[in-house]
Amino acid sequence: ATANIGVVGLAAMGSNLARNLARHGNTVALFNRHYERTEKLIEDHGDDGNFVPAKTIEEFVASLTKPRTAIIMVKAGAPTDATIEALADAMDPGDIIVDGGNSYFKDTIRREKDIRARGLHFVGCGVSGGEEGALNGPSLMPGGTDESWKTLGPILKSIAAQAEGEPCVTHIGENGAGHFVKMVHNGIEYADMQLIAESYDIMRRGMGMTPDEIGDVFEAWNKTELNSYLIEITADLLHEKDKKTGKPLVDIIVDHAGMKGTGTWTVQTALELGTPVTVVAEGVFARGLSDQTELRAGAAEQNLSGPDGTIEFANDEERKAFINDIRQAMYASKIVAYAQGFNEINDGAKEYGWDIDLAAVARIWRGGCIIRAQFLNVVSDAFESGEANVSLLFASYFKDAIERCQGSWRRVVAKTMSCGIPAPVFATSLSYYDALRSKRLPACLIQSQRDFFGAHTYGRVDEPGTFHTLWAEPGRPEEKMSD
Ligand code: 6PG
Repeated sequence: ATANIGVVGLAAMGSNLARNLARHGNTVALFNRHYERTEKLIEDHGDDGNFVPAKTIEEFVASLTKPRTAIIMVKAGAPTDATIEALADAMDPGDIIVDGGNSYFKDTIRREKDIRARGLHFVGCGVSGGEEGALNGPSLMPGGTDESWKTLGPILKSIAAQAEGEPCVTHIGENGAGHFVKMVHNGIEYADMQLIAESYDIMRRGMGMTPDEIGDVFEAWNKTELNSYLIEITADLLHEKDKKTGKPLVDIIVDHAGMKGTGTWTVQTALELGTPVTVVAEGVFARGLSDQTELRAGAAEQNLSGPDGTIEFANDEERKAFINDIRQAMYASKIVAYAQGFNEINDGAKEYGWDIDLAAVARIWRGGCIIRAQFLNVVSDAFESGEANVSLLFASYFKDAIERCQGSWRRVVAKTMSCGIPAPVFATSLSYYDALRSKRLPACLIQSQRDFFGAHTYGRVDEPGTFHTLWAEPGRPEEKMSD
């Protein structure tokens, strides 16, 4: 046996990860269900380093040095379960199985428990950065035991992206913690993408700008505090022309957004935890709405009434100022999205017994992953100092930023609503902020209604205990139900 690491599943992500491992001095065992793909990888990229191809899973396992470490890069769900089973059968106690797919964290918790009972280690590892990241440096979010991290840590550090000289990988926590954090990463990715899409929409249909002009705006924004991978690629893609028609490519792409489920899991999990992640939820629902073909066709047929989305400006100065407002609004909404996402990680950690270092999470998201951004430097500082323990919004840097952006934020939300441009993420993030600021919420009325129709009881502001009022019988005293 000569390989210190192996990869099972050599589709785009798997082969790029294997190549990245080989390029960093690892000897990489390879296995794929169809051997031709393994051969092709060696044929095309054998120069990247040392590979040990295997025709069977047994041969693959035999080629690994102990503790044997294998990374699975196959489809989430049943194919992952089948591969884990085959590996566990062929491996020995102490060996490490790593799932690098986008698995649901509850599956990872279940699998880790099963595999641990058999004396092996199971590590659910979030891998972000797409195909390019897998090859040139992803951001990695491994869960699993401390013991597995001892073997796996140095290998993962060797291939991770670097941010300010640090590898973008940290041991997130036990069992499903890594996949949980990757799930929230993807939820935030949905929010970031929807924010960018809404900003584009305001400029495109509200202000009548061309994709090229909007691309220039994003290019300029990428030099500000919004500097990030998603803003950068948006600037590039808006300048892209269709080969067939010569038109901006974005204009001829069907406006239905797909999704593979991680955003939905983020929201479902948040609902279970009771964490408001309204910004992610709107990001997910906006994609869902875009794909409601029948509903949208019906609405067009019905010619539903409302303003046509045009924003009027008195002069060029006003237009320019409004573009600046969109930028500031985006920054404020982005802060809320991250605040909500980190709250979900905190609540998940409490629920599932993980000790997650939020500053470290922010640090490993600075490079390699899809949501990588300049701004994550200050996010990690805010957690490091403890200022963001309860909410990122409480850290002085972000408090000041929101104070600065707030006027713009409100103008953008007001304008889009009055002109008829949907901006669900801009709007919901502002509502969340205002709800947090509210000394008193109308939840008192909800509690009254619940007590009225269902005797669900309520608490009083001036006395501890649980109370119930016989609402329909005026004059009857309220009853104290318990202390
Ligand atoms: C990443 C991405 C990656 C992938 C998502 C896209 O971090 O590298 O998040 O995991 O692009 O699966 O998700 P949707 O298909 O749901 O948009």
